[in-house]
Amino acid sequence: MENSGISATELFDQIAEEVYQKGVCLLRHGLPEALGTALAAEVRSLPEERFSRAGIGRQADHQTVEAIRRDEICWIDKSTAAGHSWLEWADGLKQALNRRLFLGLFSFESHYAHYRAGDYYKVHLDAFRGQQNRVLTVVTYLNPDWNDKDGGELLIYPEKGSKPLLKVQPEFGTVVIFLSEEFPHEVLPTMTDRYSIAGWYRINSSDSNRVDPES
Ligand code: OGA
Ligand code: MN
Repeated sequence: MENSGISATELFDQIAEEVYQKGVCLLRHGLPEALGTALAAEVRSLPEERFSRAGIGRQADHQTVEAIRRDEICWIDKSTAAGHSWLEWADGLKQALNRRLFLGLFSFESHYAHYRAGDYYKVHLDAFRGQQNRVLTVVTYLNPDWNDKDGGELLIYPEKGSKPLLKVQPEFGTVVIFLSEEFPHEVLPTMTDRYSIAGWYRINSSDSNRVDPES
């Protein structure tokens, strides 16, 4: 999808339309340049201790997790200018998605991810039917001048075991959005430092006994 010279609202509406039609949307220059530049600088300036080894969302020992994914993550909040702008951007997109798809998206959580040379994330789903309320995944990339030989592509499958539907280079500004329960995906081993943001829109599944999400 191309997006030269259109407003943020028009872009969000186009994304919403494509997610509605196909369940997945890939944008080569989806992230506003200044926002991407701020995020790319921030992720590289964060002290190492802000990052921690990522989990896989269910009980699993350390070795099992390491066999599945090897990236390190840092959750994003509004306490920095870059984090604030990113969350505002994500909120604008949420509004367009809710207008077009009636998804009732409620909250958004996202983290930076740093993959070092050799790191990967094997085929997985971001949500399991009926278990979680992650509805839509957003991934964006913060790597200027990514090379073919650097590996680290995101592969998105229509279903497990089939040929990839999309092969995405983690190039600066690229944005990928897909239904979290529908598309298995994986990150191929990267040859060099690879920075991304992964985020999830959730629905509010509160009932009288429970507030979910709690924050
Ligand atoms: C994830 C994920 C993809 C990427 O964090 O769940 O699938 O390309 N990330 O970083
Ligand atoms: Mn994922």
